[in-house]
Amino acid sequence: MSLIYVLNGPNLNLLGKRQPHIYGHETLADVEADCRKLALELGHEIRFHQSNREYEIIDWIHEAREDGAGIVINPAAFTHTSLAILDALNTFEGPVIEIHISNVHKRESFRHHSFVSHRADGVLAGLGTEGYQLGIRRVATMLTAPKKE
Ligand code: DQA
Repeated sequence: MSLIYVLNGPNLNLLGKRQPHIYGHETLADVEADCRKLALELGHEIRFHQSNREYEIIDWIHEAREDGAGIVINPAAFTHTSLAILDALNTFEGPVIEIHISNVHKRESFRHHSFVSHRADGVLAGLGTEGYQLGIRRVATMLTAPKKE
């Protein structure tokens, strides 16, 4: 059993209430419950966090260096601004999957650049909250067959 970190950036605590036409009606608690269920099915454990503060996300990445096998991260707006989160992820050796609920490439041009993509092993965007499930599945695959993927 490996530990997978699922990290969420700013404003994602408002999921379900915030611009539902873009982000859907599911809450972050719904997403967390689905992630926990899937992780259990796959034989892994998850640590699920959300913060509106950049340093907390960096601290959780540092924590993952100690006990985490993989990271699924929706950095939200920090995606487009945070060199510090990229630097932190560059210190982590396991698989990293970046996810976005919305298709950032269909949106404003300032959402097209991602610092995190410079490190991510894969990026999922525009698949709704299902992206979290797919991200966890991908991390699980990479953990079991790292050399073939
Ligand atoms: C987001 C996309 C970002 O551009 C935005 O700032 C978010 C959420 C997404 O999940 O689609 O807060 O990461």
